[in-house]
Amino acid sequence: MSAPPVRPYSGARVLLGVTGGIASYKAAWLARLLTKAGASVDVVMTPAATEFVGAITFEALTGRAVHTGLFHPGRALDHIKLAREATAIVIAPATADFIARAAAGQASDLLSACLLAATCPVLLVPAMNDHMWAHAQTQRNAAHLGELGYSVLQPDEGMLAAGEGSGPGRMPEPESIFAHVGRLLERPGALAGKRVLVTAGPTQEAVDPVRFISNHSSGKMGVAVAAAAWRRGAAVDLIAGPLSVAAPNGVTVHAVESTEDMAAAVQRLLPDSDVLVMAAAPADFRPAEPARSKIKKTNAPLTLTLAPTPDILQTTKQARRPGAVIVGFALETDDAVASGRKKLAAKDLDMIVVNDATEAGAGFGVDTNRVTLLSRTGGDEQLPLLPKTEVADAILDRVEKLIGGR
Ligand code: CTP
Repeated sequence: MSAPPVRPYSGARVLLGVTGGIASYKAAWLARLLTKAGASVDVVMTPAATEFVGAITFEALTGRAVHTGLFHPGRALDHIKLAREATAIVIAPATADFIARAAAGQASDLLSACLLAATCPVLLVPAMNDHMWAHAQTQRNAAHLGELGYSVLQPDEGMLAAGEGSGPGRMPEPESIFAHVGRLLERPGALAGKRVLVTAGPTQEAVDPVRFISNHSSGKMGVAVAAAAWRRGAAVDLIAGPLSVAAPNGVTVHAVESTEDMAAAVQRLLPDSDVLVMAAAPADFRPAEPARSKIKKTNAPLTLTLAPTPDILQTTKQARRPGAVIVGFALETDDAVASGRKKLAAKDLDMIVVNDATEAGAGFGVDTNRVTLLSRTGGDEQLPLLPKTEVADAILDRVEKLIGGR
């Protein structure tokens, strides 16, 4: 299991509104994810939601009192207090009825009253029958909420309540909503609104139609950078070789196989990117003449002739936008920092992330990394052994400073 992301959830006060839809059972898992990541979660349920899930479930998961009504003696001002203390509000699931009431500015229950009293960012996660979602009135209500400044997630397509078939209306998975809440909680920085291009994973070079040469890269480091950049408000393109981990939420994935494919994708996307983080481990060699059909054991050549692949950072230099921040990685086994410094200059980078593959807990496949950050402008920084998610944040903190200085 990868380490749970701490930032930006730790210290956050999240008001989780649950309305009365069948997807409300998934809100329990969301409450758990947020609590585990360090947020204090105040659950507010509409009366209809309590028909689907018991308040006690949320109380046990969050370790905090659950709020269910406007009219409790001694707690008349709950809606003001809850709204004032929240750093973010997420309403999951948001039914068609709740969306209609919110769009009309009603305050007939505790949750809608909290929404009116709140000044923090709000995320609504619609979930309902596909026809109810497609209805012009619901669409109008959702669009109006967007105009009011709320973030409204698009429902997923997939199986709806039992016997109801499938279509757009299904609540996105709790992990995805959790990631969106992280984006909501993030303080706006220099990456907000920027386009970030990240490469991740290995590439594969065909020997024949069923065999390839590659390396041990899992893609974890690049995926962590892409996830953190998206959470910071960037639009993220992830050029991914065959990954051993799932691509993160919110990013646009461009799947590639060979180094040449990856080079072509970087060449295409780089002119529109404000930042390139080249975290992939592209294969440096390919079989010179891949066989068209499967090589048989009986007539296999015992020597494979290799040809070099393009160096992506070198060959795409002219596609860089003026002022773009370019970050490379260097995976070394000998004299890591000195070799990293040479690559920083040779590949014309703003920063290089050097790691020594021979160190325990660093390099391919593991969830942690120990890196040294070298910059063109100096100020080297050796980081301790950290989860890759935290290494990603350290890299992006530096990238934000570089963007800010341009
Ligand atoms: N890189 C690249 N194109 C390649 C190989 C690597 O753009 N064909 C990028 C990597 O993504 C990384 C940086 O160059 O950001 C350094 O990669 P690394 O494998 O450490 O260095 P190489 O240039 O391949 O040099 P060597 O293998 O000789 O150490």
